[in-house]
Amino acid sequence: MKGKATDERRLLKVLDGERLWPPPVWMMRQAGRYLPEYRATRAKAGSFLDLCYAPALATEVTLQPIRRFGFDAAILFSDILVVPHALGQKVWFVEGEGPRLEPVDLPRLALESDRVLSKLEPVIETVSRVRAELPKETTLLGFCGAPWTLITYMVAGRGTPDQMPARRAAFTDPKGIDRLIDILVDASIDYLTAQLRAGADAVQIFDTWAGVLDDFGFQRLVIEPTKRIVAGVRANVSGARVIGFPKGAGGHLPVYVRETGVDAVGIDWQASLDFVRDAVQPLAAVQGNLDPLHLVTGGKALDAAVDRVLDRLGEGRLIFNLGHGITPDGSIDNVSHMLARVRAAGRR
Ligand code: CP3
Repeated sequence: MKGKATDERRLLKVLDGERLWPPPVWMMRQAGRYLPEYRATRAKAGSFLDLCYAPALATEVTLQPIRRFGFDAAILFSDILVVPHALGQKVWFVEGEGPRLEPVDLPRLALESDRVLSKLEPVIETVSRVRAELPKETTLLGFCGAPWTLITYMVAGRGTPDQMPARRAAFTDPKGIDRLIDILVDASIDYLTAQLRAGADAVQIFDTWAGVLDDFGFQRLVIEPTKRIVAGVRANVSGARVIGFPKGAGGHLPVYVRETGVDAVGIDWQASLDFVRDAVQPLAAVQGNLDPLHLVTGGKALDAAVDRVLDRLGEGRLIFNLGHGITPDGSIDNVSHMLARVRAAGRR
């Protein structure tokens, strides 16, 4: 996978160990509702899941933020919940509210697990189409949800403020949760492998709810499954590049990086920048961590926050990003402004 074609992709150089200045930059949720062109394509698609499974439209929305802003990376347009959906759990999105899932049926999931990839074929086709249309200097990122974060939705049947149903199940039904993790680890390895083979340069594993677990739970439900996915993907695609995003991991970040073997780690905006610089950046590239609210409010506070990330993390390997996805009320002007400021960052 590594080779000449990727030589010009700055983000990949950072994943491979170089420090670049100014740092490469992209944004989580960069294809989304803050863009009028996304809203227009979304309206054509029908449901949100229809958009995820329509290669022509999904390719179009993946490319929209690249055309408008020229980010260093495009991220495949899809959703983490296509994996439970492909495993046969019913998933739908309620307008203005979020995802809904029917109750988990473990034996059925186990039965469907061999067929996951055939159901995800349209998403893999999107990866190939995007790669064919992207400028050669733009990195293409694939992704999946980490097992723990998927389980929080699969068990609760929806997003929850405190992930309580999945946390309870982890204590009261450890065997059931372990079985679910095994199924999701295998499906994720197959899915990420297929994305890399179709032309993704690297993949990101989103663990949005990693921060709600105790020390033991973090090891069991975040680190162990992620480590198995990273190893499984690299057994299929040698040297596969992986970014982990264990949101809210805080003091667990160094052990997460060491044990999972990720090439880069996403940093949420609550993290201590001194801690990240001293204890995490020597181990891996870091990706983050502007508070996405600054893209809503803008002004001097945005400039100062961009500068703080560059000042504190700019001495080491950095991929500039947000600490979580841009929200639908984020401003396009503020995004352009952020990008210009990162790219004009003075020598150091
Ligand atoms: O980053 C990108 O631009 C790529 C596409 C992407 C989406 N979701 C598109 C999306 C990615 C990488 C995701 C990941 C995702 N999906 C996560 C992990 C990262 C995170 O944000 O925490 C999670 C937890 C989900 C599950 C999910 N999908 C929820 C909870 C929701 C509803 C909340 C919301 O923002 O509406 C979604 C819907 C969703 N996924 C939208 C988009 C653009 C909005 C739906 C729409 O357009 O109607």
